[in-house]
Amino acid sequence: MPESQQRPAPRLAPSILAADLGHLDTEIRRAGDGGADYIHIDVMDGRFVPNISIGLPVVEAARRATTLPLDVHLMIVEPERYIERFAEAGADLITVQVEACVHVHRTLQQIREAGCQAGLALNPGTPVSAIEETASLLDVVLVMSVNPGFGGQSFIPTSLSKIGRVRALLDAVNPAALIEVDGGIKPENARGIWQAGAGILVAGTAIFSPERSVADSIEAFRSVFID
Ligand code: DX5
Ligand code: ZN
Repeated sequence: MPESQQRPAPRLAPSILAADLGHLDTEIRRAGDGGADYIHIDVMDGRFVPNISIGLPVVEAARRATTLPLDVHLMIVEPERYIERFAEAGADLITVQVEACVHVHRTLQQIREAGCQAGLALNPGTPVSAIEETASLLDVVLVMSVNPGFGGQSFIPTSLSKIGRVRALLDAVNPAALIEVDGGIKPENARGIWQAGAGILVAGTAIFSPERSVADSIEAFRSVFID
C-alpha cells in the first residue's frame, strides 16, 4: 500500500508573516481558495523574539477574511496575559512557546477554557522532555525547525529526529495530538518532514512568494504527497 494511504497527507498552514500585509484580505482568500487548511498567524513582541510582527487587530482582520481555522502562534513573553483576547479576536488554535511560560500547565488550561485548541511550541534548543508533563493536554505540538523570529530561514536538519521523538511521546500518551512543524519548509523537504511524523506543515516564504501564485505554491506542496 502506498505510503500516503497509510497516513493522511499533512495539513497546510500558510504563514501570513510572508504575505503582502497591505493586501491581507486578498492574500488570505487566495490561500483559502488554493486549498490551505489553516491560516498561521505569527505574533511577535520584540522581547521573546528579536522581531515585532502583528497582533490582535490583524487576527480580527484575518477572522473577517476567512472561515479557515486561525492558527495563532504566540512568540511573546507572558502569553497568559493575552489568551482570552486572542480567542475573542478569532483564534481557533493558540500555540504558546513552552520557554515563555512560567505556569505552562495553567496556561494550557486557560487556552482550552477560552474555547480554543491548545498548542505548545518547542524551540530548536528545547528538549522534548519539556512537554512530558503536559503532552496529554495538547491538541498540537509545534516543533520549531528554525530559531523563531523571522521567515525565510533554512530548515534545521536535526528537527527530523526531534519530530520522531515527539511523535513517539505523543503516541504513548496522546495519539490524537498532531505535530505541526514550522520554519524553512519547502516542497523539496516536505515529504521527509511528513515521514518523520509531521501532521501540519507551516510555510511562509514558500507559499507567499513573488515568483508564483499562492495557488501554484500550494499545489507544489500537494503534488509532493501524490504517490
Ligand atoms: C518564525 C515563524 C514561522 C515563519 C515561517 O518565527 O514562526 O511561522 O513565519 O516562515 P518560512 O516558511 O518562510 O520559514
Ligand atoms: Zn510560526
